[in-house]
Amino acid sequence: MRKNIVAGNWKMNKNLQEGLALATELDGILKDKEINCDVVIGTPFIHLASVAAAIDTDKIGVSAQNCADKASGAYTGETSVEMIKSTGAAYVILGHSERREYYAETSEILNDKVTLTLEAGLTPIYCCGEALDIREAGTQNEFVINQLKETVFKLSEEDFKKVVIAYEPIWAIGTGVTASSDQAQEMHKALREAIAANYSAEVADETSILYGGSCKPSNAKELFANPDVDGGLIGGASLKAEDFVGIIDAF
Ligand code: PGA
Repeated sequence: MRKNIVAGNWKMNKNLQEGLALATELDGILKDKEINCDVVIGTPFIHLASVAAAIDTDKIGVSAQNCADKASGAYTGETSVEMIKSTGAAYVILGHSERREYYAETSEILNDKVTLTLEAGLTPIYCCGEALDIREAGTQNEFVINQLKETVFKLSEEDFKKVVIAYEPIWAIGTGVTASSDQAQEMHKALREAIAANYSAEVADETSILYGGSCKPSNAKELFANPDVDGGLIGGASLKAEDFVGIIDAF
């Protein structure tokens, strides 16, 4: 179902105590507050169980930032979807550009991860987005739609309906440069049209498409006001409760 979602992506920040402090601070602020979106925090693996136990997960969903591409077995250092699920987490961020770039995650690997995540009953927050050279060449729509064609568009309609899409132009991630409201809307509209072409207008209308890339309290309202922008995936500004709440308040 299409929902407004504000999801934090802590990346590799905060030790366990710092992460717990941030999560409980957020939980305290949101407890009696009326909010108009779903809230998710994407923590490092080792924080998941403690964070999920410390907060009201009906109010703040907990997300991993990755999962193994295998179900279980002799894969030293990996974390399976079942392990993630057993912590109380309900989401997995997949296909982040940092994973694609630094850890060589291909569409093939991501297909396995998406499938395992869905099989475990967890919600994938599936990232896509173009680098600056592609934006400068003007081929960003084709590029990003192709990222979806190679991966989540291969899912059955029933499975695709469980996926949240996050559009994150790489040139806007952590750079302080945000896509303009028009640039975000243009891409989100193109993605929704591609979903309609691949599935149906109804499915497209039901898909949550988040924007990510230097989203902050000062620009969230304008970005979220677009008809095809259903929220944000927030990196840097999710590391301070005040900033993150400022973004949640944009809805
Ligand atoms: P940023 O990161 O908000 O720090 O730009 C967004 C993301 O990478 O998810």
